[in-house]
Amino acid sequence: MAVDLLLGLQWGDEGKGKIVDVLTSNYNIIARFQGGPNAGHTLVFNGKKHVLHTIPSGIFHDDATNLVGNGVVIDPVIFKGELDKLEEQNIDYRKSLLISRKAHIILPTHRLLDAASEASKGKAKIGSTLKGIGPTYMDKTGRNGIRVGDLELSDWKERYRNLADKHESMIAYYNVDIEYNLKELEEEFFKAIDVLKSLTFIDSEEYIYQAQKAEKSILAEGAQGSLLDIDFGTYPFVTSSNTTAAGACTGLGVAPNQIGDVFGIFKAYTTRVGSGPFPTELFDEDGKTMGRVGNEFGATTGRPRRCGWLDLVALKYACRVNGVTQLMMMKGDVLSGFKTLKVCTQYKYKGKTISHLPYNIEPENVEPIYTEFSGWNEDLTEMSDASELPKALNEYIDFLEKELEIPITIVSVGPDRKQTIFRQQLV
Ligand code: GDP
Ligand code: IMO
Ligand code: MG
Repeated sequence: MAVDLLLGLQWGDEGKGKIVDVLTSNYNIIARFQGGPNAGHTLVFNGKKHVLHTIPSGIFHDDATNLVGNGVVIDPVIFKGELDKLEEQNIDYRKSLLISRKAHIILPTHRLLDAASEASKGKAKIGSTLKGIGPTYMDKTGRNGIRVGDLELSDWKERYRNLADKHESMIAYYNVDIEYNLKELEEEFFKAIDVLKSLTFIDSEEYIYQAQKAEKSILAEGAQGSLLDIDFGTYPFVTSSNTTAAGACTGLGVAPNQIGDVFGIFKAYTTRVGSGPFPTELFDEDGKTMGRVGNEFGATTGRPRRCGWLDLVALKYACRVNGVTQLMMMKGDVLSGFKTLKVCTQYKYKGKTISHLPYNIEPENVEPIYTEFSGWNEDLTEMSDASELPKALNEYIDFLEKELEIPITIVSVGPDRKQTIFRQQLV
């Protein structure tokens, strides 16, 4: 059976966690394919909010198996924190959580290197989540990393020491003011490693191959968003993994011809957290309203998210790079009450009007060109059927579908699992 993908089309935080949770009842296996604890995926059900960082968003469903794929980077300390929270809620994760032996491990010194690198950049900093993501992927591609499977080898602690010592000399090289007590960090780290080792490690590509053969349904869960992709995002203000569809192939070992549906998630407006260009960013009351009503604060760092209008130029680009087959529009409810809505349909780029995402979208090169829409005042949060959606919202949706040439199958009208409107049967 083909593997379906679910991924974010903007700068992350589109609502991936919520939709994975909603869709899990249709799948046997939920598999995270990249990123790590830089992600914060929020799920809300039965009046309770849950935030997951590394653990796939299917974990609250008894029948689903949750796989942390080879493309993911794991911080054992954060991972243990997530497990502790699951335990508090009596979630029996031991049976249902599997970890790829090929996933890489974030060491305490990776986190310190992230902080040192950011401090050395000054104003040009990426705005990283400081979880050690960049340095860990650098060690992966530099062929120095430590993988989950290494924890089963007798010499892994020696390899750890060598790598951590090297990191310490690199931290000193940055020559920035970073205080740390590595002994304390290591104590916490090794305790967490023991917990990690009590879980089930697998050769995940083989597991997925056999699962497909046995007709199991698999949903691959992405982290971050397409505009944070290391190749296709707004480089260098990106994360260090491939967040796009191709990342699911390398991050799970699934061949391109085994990919089925690609679910692309986007907010009805746009947000970004961290540094980097954002052509439709708003600095006025409208932007503040989006932030306030949408409660736009990072699920991992608590930082306020920058807000702006929907950028269709960027969204089209993301749909193409990913081969999106179905769209899901999130947070439509946040736009209720705006008299006029704007959608960026083209850019003025170096004096010319263009319709594609160019190499360079810094504010000095790009000015958004907007199409305006009438807003709606109805509160969407209690609606449960597509027939209830206001006319002006339907016009907004119709316009986007026509421009993107992809159906919008889900409209999300609130954070809760139940606040999900299916416009079409999904499969
Ligand atoms: P993810 O990283 O893509 O999983 O998204 P986050 O969890 O970081 O951010 C999405 C935020 O929006 C979370 O606080 C969700 O609870 C919330 N959310 C998701 N869908 C909706 C929606 O349709 N309406 C509103 N108001 N909030 C939503
Ligand atoms: P989810 O999965 C939003 C951003 C950071 C920073 C840049 C690089 O919840 O959508 P990193 O720590 O990866 O080196 O940071 O990427 N970023 C995210 N923004 N949602 C995320 O994940 C993000 N993960 C990283 O803010 O700008
Ligand atoms: Mg998030």
